[in-house]
Amino acid sequence: MKDISLHILDIAQNSVAAGATRIAIRITDNASEDSFVLEIEDNGSGIPRDLLEKVLDPFFTSRTTRNVGLGLSLLAQSARDTGGDVSVESEEGAGTRVRARFRPSHIDMKPLGNIADTLLVLIAANPMIDFFFSYEKPSKRYVLDTQEIKAQLEEVPITSPDVLLLLKDELRKSLGRIIPVPE
Ligand SMILES: Nc1ncnc2c1ncn2[C@@H]1O[C@H](COP(=O)(O)OP(=O)(O)OP(=O)(O)O)[C@@H](O)[C@H]1O
Ligand SMILES: [Mg+2]
Repeated sequence: MKDISLHILDIAQNSVAAGATRIAIRITDNASEDSFVLEIEDNGSGIPRDLLEKVLDPFFTSRTTRNVGLGLSLLAQSARDTGGDVSVESEEGAGTRVRARFRPSHIDMKPLGNIADTLLVLIAANPMIDFFFSYEKPSKRYVLDTQEIKAQLEEVPITSPDVLLLLKDELRKSLGRIIPVPE
């Protein structure tokens, strides 16, 4: 995986596949503590207990189209490459929480990539799912909650081109105050 954004897209895709109606993506970025924590939490179907211990193993998947699952083990690899780690907590019928901790000063730390575009893709492709996103630095915080946006939009769909453009602008402006957001 080239960057953190692609990991986010990929791990959130597991939540979509698990039938989640709400997906929270939280980043806590603390350079002075050399800590970057990515958390993705969903209210999907959860991972059965016997599978849970295997999901960080690159040779495990519940897919039937090929016999290796990559998403979680690649994320774990990326985190471990920097001296960090990954944990997966899950309860069947309740949901799943994936937490990856990175050491951003490490030479193998992946770049952030385009988090704004990743969020837009997730939102546009899954209008029925509510996305909560936060990016927290010690002194600044950015929060986006599509549940609130949808309530304000009333009957206008969040996938309408005008709304997506506004969202893109807002992400570039507001998230852009905290991290670089590519054009
Ligand atoms: N959020 C989640 N909710 C429920 N089950 C999950 C979740 N995340 C992962 N799983 C289960 O863990 C397995 C491994 O996930 P992983 O992303 O590593 O591989 P994959 O999704 O099977 O394949 P790939 O990501 O390479 O397309 C999945 O097949 C699925 O059964
Ligand atoms: Mg996957």
